[in-house]
Amino acid sequence: MKTKEAVARRCSCRAYKPYQISEKELNIVLQCGNAAPVGMGKFETLKFTVIQNRELLDKIDAEGSKFFGDPNVHPLYGAPTLILVSGKADDVELSMCNASCVVENMAITATDIGLGSCYIRGNIKAITYNKELCEAMKVPEGFVPCAGIILGYPVKEPEERELTMDKIQVEYVR
Ligand SMILES: Cc1cc2nc3c(=O)[nH]c(=O)nc-3n(C[C@H](O)[C@H](O)[C@H](O)COP(=O)(O)O)c2cc1C
Repeated sequence: MKTKEAVARRCSCRAYKPYQISEKELNIVLQCGNAAPVGMGKFETLKFTVIQNRELLDKIDAEGSKFFGDPNVHPLYGAPTLILVSGKADDVELSMCNASCVVENMAITATDIGLGSCYIRGNIKAITYNKELCEAMKVPEGFVPCAGIILGYPVKEPEERELTMDKIQVEYVR
């Protein structure tokens, strides 16, 4: 798949088949996350945690449901894999920027290899101050959970969307 096609096909997937992705697919996504631009090249200010344990995923999801005040809301959408991106707490703003770059690289890669994905912030915010969950998710001391990406096989194959110029306002100063 060409880059532009993967960008056009990438969309937030919120319904997953109940099968785990392969180790090979996971590793490709992790490699492309590692290839993302990171401020000042300080890759050591980030950490990934691959969460594929159903019990832990359900606990994270349940915290999200509580946060959103609705037990019927499942903010991880039943996805079998969550990659948590944590970043150094001494510059949260930069960590958030870095995490976003990483997640987007992962999301486009996921599309390229036929996986569904979705950027997860709400549920990550919900668990940021939950010490027990942060420990279970192996968030190191001095780091904060910044962003997540869920991965799995999509229930519905994404269609290639038309690339347009009208979603984000643009002004030219020439
Ligand atoms: C910073 C950020 C946070 C997001 N957080 C969530 C989230 O917590 N849950 C969710 O379902 N989608 C989340 N999204 C996905 C957006 O809702 C989605 O990208 C947007 O509506 C555009 O749709 P598309 O991804 O299908 O193109 C997030 C996206 C970004 C960039």
